Amino acid sequence: KRIAAASAQVDKAGHKHFMAKEIAEQPRVLADAMAHYLRPEGGVVLPEPGIDFASIDRLTLVACGTAFYACNVAKYWFEQIARLPVEIDVASEFRYREPPVAPRSAALFVSQSGETADTLAALRYMQGKAETVLSVVNVTESSIARESDIALPILAGAEIGVASTKAFTCQLLVLGTLALEAARQRGTLGAEELARLEAGLRALPGLIHQGLTVEAECQRISRQLAEARDILFLGRGRMYPLALEGALKLKEISYIHAEAYASGELKHGPIALIDEHVPVVVIAPHDELFDKTVSNMQEVMARGGKVLLVTDAKGAEVAGEGVWEQIVLPEIDPFWAPVLYAVPAQMLAYHTAVSKGTDVDQPRNLAKSVTVE
Ligand code: G6P
Repeated sequence: KRIAAASAQVDKAGHKHFMAKEIAEQPRVLADAMAHYLRPEGGVVLPEPGIDFASIDRLTLVACGTAFYACNVAKYWFEQIARLPVEIDVASEFRYREPPVAPRSAALFVSQSGETADTLAALRYMQGKAETVLSVVNVTESSIARESDIALPILAGAEIGVASTKAFTCQLLVLGTLALEAARQRGTLGAEELARLEAGLRALPGLIHQGLTVEAECQRISRQLAEARDILFLGRGRMYPLALEGALKLKEISYIHAEAYASGELKHGPIALIDEHVPVVVIAPHDELFDKTVSNMQEVMARGGKVLLVTDAKGAEVAGEGVWEQIVLPEIDPFWAPVLYAVPAQMLAYHTAVSKGTDVDQPRNLAKSVTVE
């Protein structure tokens, strides 16, 4: 028994939970994935036979849970730099909607396990209808990997915690790399801009490493979040999917009711929920949409809401006054900010759950891989 306990401890590499270990591993696994997809001298390498992004007019991204939120981020990326229209859907809706498939469409399925029943069924629906069926998976021997024309591994290593962490950031890395390659092939970005974005991508493991230092802050703030009954998450643009992911992570493992909204939707309903008991997590790097998000944040504060602002030094300087709490992340190219901002979202969920004493790695009612409908 003692030996078993000792080996479980080794597996967690000294961490209290697999989730903590998997959060901490992100700089390394992201660097591994990057080494697989980016040439040292510059440029993207994809498995044979490659993907012809110039021959498609539409990309459909389908997944469940956290993988679906990675697709949400990817939609912003592909549309912005590759000017490729992207449709996203959760697999359980997509498969029964029986959507018409336009010619010159590609479909891409994202799944950590590669075995999620709804995602697999959605993939089978697209076989023979889409020009190419792609998948982004962690488990390369999985059904989803086997049944797609090209399977792109995320190389995150085994993920044990039910709440997905390193798989999410590695999914983002692979999807971001694909968006860059799509932009190159479609000629929608100049060489200089492409090189700038590629440099930003390469900086991610180092920035995530620095980002991990917000842990003590997250832990301290989480003790207060653990007292809340409801928590709102707000984000705009590329950060809206991060708000969704932050709320999902928190409810999965701490069982606190958490909901996310696009900042601009605040006034169309959720603002009615705001009072001094509802913490509002505003995820807002100092990017081109920052001022808009700040004005939404001020609407919350004017109604007594407690704002936790997750931002960078510039954002904190401009808008930090009067907020309840803030978490300050390193400066990053705003385009890639969703990858870095995943870290505090994960840590807030983790430490809130630890404060509440819930089962972090095996939350009630949830399964790591959902192979039934
Ligand atoms: C379950 C897990 C989630 C995961 C989702 C999709 O709900 O608890 O963490 O995001 O399935 O799983 P997949 O393996 O397809 O990424």
